[in-house]
Amino acid sequence: MSGGSFSKVGVVGLGTMGAGIAEVLARGGLAVVGIEINDEALERGRGHLDRSTGRAVKRGKLTEAEQREILDRITLSTAFADLADCDLVIEAVPERLDLKRRVFAELDQVCRKDAVLATNTSSLSVTEIATSTARPSQIVGVHFFNPAPVMKLVEVIGTVLTEPAAIARVADLVRSLGKTPVTVGDRAGFVANRLLFGYLNQAAAMYESGHATLADIDTAMKVGAGLPMGPFTLMDLIGLDTCLEVLEAIYRESRDRRHAPAPVLRELVTAGLLGRKTGRGFYPYDSATEEAAP
Ligand code: 3HC
Repeated sequence: MSGGSFSKVGVVGLGTMGAGIAEVLARGGLAVVGIEINDEALERGRGHLDRSTGRAVKRGKLTEAEQREILDRITLSTAFADLADCDLVIEAVPERLDLKRRVFAELDQVCRKDAVLATNTSSLSVTEIATSTARPSQIVGVHFFNPAPVMKLVEVIGTVLTEPAAIARVADLVRSLGKTPVTVGDRAGFVANRLLFGYLNQAAAMYESGHATLADIDTAMKVGAGLPMGPFTLMDLIGLDTCLEVLEAIYRESRDRRHAPAPVLRELVTAGLLGRKTGRGFYPYDSATEEAAP
C-alpha cells in the first residue's frame, strides 16, 4: 500500500487518537514519526500502540512478525526537530485552541515549506489554527473517529484559505489507507459530530430526568436501532471530556439548545470520571484493559 503523495508522516500527540492514527499510517506502509511532550507521555503512547496491535495479534488478524514490522515503522521521539523531513504532519494534541495554535506555530518553523500540516480536531476551528502559521494554504483538518484503527470514516476539512490540492492529497492518503474520506467545510462538529452529538446529549438528558436506566437506554438504541453500541457505552468510549468539548463548541456556534451540554456530563467530567480511559464514566471499567467491569 502507498500513502498517495506522502511517504513520511509525523503524528504529534500519542493519546488514544494520535496513537490510533499512527498505527493506521504504519499499517498503510508509511514511515511515521510519533512525537510526545516528554518520556512518560511517550511511554504511554508506546503502550497504546503495543496494546492495539497486540489485540490484533490475539484475534489472529496480524502475525507477530507483521506487528513488529508495523511498530518498527514508527519512530518515537520528544523532539519536534525530528519532523523536519516529513511531508505531512498530523497534530492530535488535546482539544485546546491555545495549545493547538502553539503546536502549529512550532510546526511551521520546523517542517519543510511544502509540508502539509493537518489537525485532528473534533470541535475547534481549523481556520483559527491555520492562522497561527505562515502557510494557511497548506493547513487542513483530518477528523478520524474512535477507535481510529477500526472506523472507516475520515472527515477532511478545508478552510477558505486551504489550497484545493492539499485537500485532494489528504483525501487520496485517506483512501490509500482503506478509509473513506468526506470533504467538509470548517463548521463546529463538521458533519458527523454535528448530527451525532445532539442524539448523545439527548440520551444524557433522558437518563438525568429519570426516563429510563443507562442500561435500558443503551439496549433500546443498540437492539432497537441497530447501532453497534448504545449512547452511554459510546460516550464512555469517546471520553466524556471530549463529549463535553464537542457539545460546547457546537452550542457556541449554533446556539441550538439540543447541544447545550446535559448537566450530568459536566458533573462527571468535573469529578474526573471521563469514561474507559479513567476506569469510570457512566459505567465502571477495568482500568488495565478498558473493558466493562463485570
Ligand atoms: N482499538 C483498536 N481496535 C479495536 C478497538 C480499539 N479500541 N475496539 C475494537 N477494536 C477492533 C477489534 O479488534 C475488532 O477487530 P477485528 O474485526 O479486526 O477483529 C473490531 O474492532 C470489532 O471489535 P469487537 O468484536 O471487540 O467489538 P464490537 O463488534 O462491539 O466493535 C466497535 C467495537 C468497533 C468499537 C463498535 O462497537 C463500534 O463501531 N462502535 C461505535 C463506534 C463509534 O461510533 N465511533 C465514533 C465515535 S464519534 C468520534 O469518534 C468523533 C470524535 O470527534 C468524538
